[in-house]
Amino acid sequence: MVKVNVGGCSSFVKDAEYQKYVQKALDAFDVLDSESGAGNDFLGWKTLPVDIPESLIADCEAIRDDWSAKGVDLVVVIGIGGSYLGARCAIEALSHGFVRKPGVPQIVFAGNNLSEDYLAELMDLARTRNTACVVISKSGTTTEPAVAFRIVKEYIEKTYGKAEAAVRIVAITDAKKGALKTLATQEGYKTFVVPDNVGGRYSVLTPVGILPIVLAGFDMRAMLKGAAEEREALLVKSADNGAVQYAAMRNLLYRELGKKVEILVTFNPKLQYLGEWWKQLYGESEGKEGRGIFPASVVCTTDLHSMGQFIQEGDRVMFETTVTVENAAREVVIGSDEQNLDQLNYLAGQRVEHCNKMAQLGTKLAHIDGGVPQMEVSVEKLDEASLGALFYFFEFACGISAYVLGINPFNQPGVEAYKKNMFALLRKPGYEKQTEEILKRI
Ligand code: PA5
Repeated sequence: MVKVNVGGCSSFVKDAEYQKYVQKALDAFDVLDSESGAGNDFLGWKTLPVDIPESLIADCEAIRDDWSAKGVDLVVVIGIGGSYLGARCAIEALSHGFVRKPGVPQIVFAGNNLSEDYLAELMDLARTRNTACVVISKSGTTTEPAVAFRIVKEYIEKTYGKAEAAVRIVAITDAKKGALKTLATQEGYKTFVVPDNVGGRYSVLTPVGILPIVLAGFDMRAMLKGAAEEREALLVKSADNGAVQYAAMRNLLYRELGKKVEILVTFNPKLQYLGEWWKQLYGESEGKEGRGIFPASVVCTTDLHSMGQFIQEGDRVMFETTVTVENAAREVVIGSDEQNLDQLNYLAGQRVEHCNKMAQLGTKLAHIDGGVPQMEVSVEKLDEASLGALFYFFEFACGISAYVLGINPFNQPGVEAYKKNMFALLRKPGYEKQTEEILKRI
C-alpha cells in the first residue's frame, strides 16, 4: 500500500489553505469517480486491476514458454512514450542491476528514439543472439517505433524465415484499425489489444505492460493484485486519501506559492524509470493551455552531486516528492579497516541502507531549509505488488490533480506539433504545402 506524507510542506503552507485545497481535491475526486469530467471516454484504466482476465496473463505466459522452448534470449520491445515507459520502469525496478536471471531473455527497448547509432548497436546485439520482438503501437503510425520495427522485422524474417518470423513477432495495437493491426492480420502475428478507452500513459496494466513484464519473468498477477488493493484504498473519498492529499498539496504549492517544478526523487537507482514514466504521466496530462507543473526527476544520492546545488540554492521554483522504499531487499554491511584512511570506521558494522536513509533524511531537512517543500510517497518494499500500487496511485492522483487544475488529463494535443514539422521536413506525401512553408523558415 502507498503511504503519503505531506508533513515536509507544513512550514511553507497554512493549514487552512491546505484544507481549502483538500476540498478542491475532494470535489475533483467526485468528478473522476462519477466519470463526469473532460476526457471521460479515456477512463478504462480505472478498473484495469480488476478487469484483466486470467486468460490474458495465461496467453502472455504461453508466449514466454514458446519462446523459451526456442531458446530465445533477446526480446526487442518496440514502442515509445506510453507504449514502453511503464514496462521499462517495472522491468528495471524488479531486475537484478547487473546479472540476468537464468532462463529469462534479456529485454531491450527500441523505437523510442530516432538515433541511427542506437539502432545499429541494437542490431549488433541481435545478430549475436536468438531474437524475438514485441511491437507496441496503439496508433500504428508513430514514426519512431515504425522505423525500428521495419529494421527488426526485416532482420528476423531474413534470419529465421517468414513463417518463423510470424511466431517470433507479437503485436500490441488497436483492436480494429491502424497500420500495425493490418500488418499483424496479414502476417498472422499473435496480437493483443490496447483498449480504446485507455491512453498510452495509463496503459501499463494492459498488454502494453503486461506482456513485456511477463516475458521478463515477473509476476503480473501480484502486480495487478497490488494495484487492485491500492484502488480499493483510493476509492474511499476522504481527506486521508493519499491521492487527494498529494493532488491537493501539489496544486496548492503551484497556485499559491508559485512552485512550478515538481521533482520526483528516489534514493534507489532501480526507480530511475519510475521517474521517466511519471514525467510522461504528469507532463502529458497537465501541461496544457499554458498551465501545469513541470515534472522533473532525480536519482539520489547520485544527482545530489550534480543537481543538488541548484535544488539547494538555485531559483526557488520547485518542490520535491520523494518515492521511498522503506526496506532494502538485500543487506550489505560496511566493514572495519585497520588503517581507516577514509575515516569510515565510525560506520563499521552498519548497513549501507542506513547511510542511504540518513542521506535521505539529511537531504529532506536541508532542502526544507533551502525553501523546497517536501512530500513523500512510500512503499514497504520494491516488488511487483508495490509497483502495481505505485502505478495506480500516481494515475489516480493525476486524474484528481488535473481536474483541480481545470485541465483535461486524458488528451495530448501538443504532441502533434513536432510530428507535423518532421513530416514536412521529411517530405512525407500529403505534407507538400507544409514542406513549402517550413523551408521558408530555415
Ligand atoms: O500518451 C500517449 O498517448 C503517447 O505518448 C503515446 O503513448 C506515444 O506517442 C506512442 O503512441 P502509439 O502507441 O500510438 O505509437
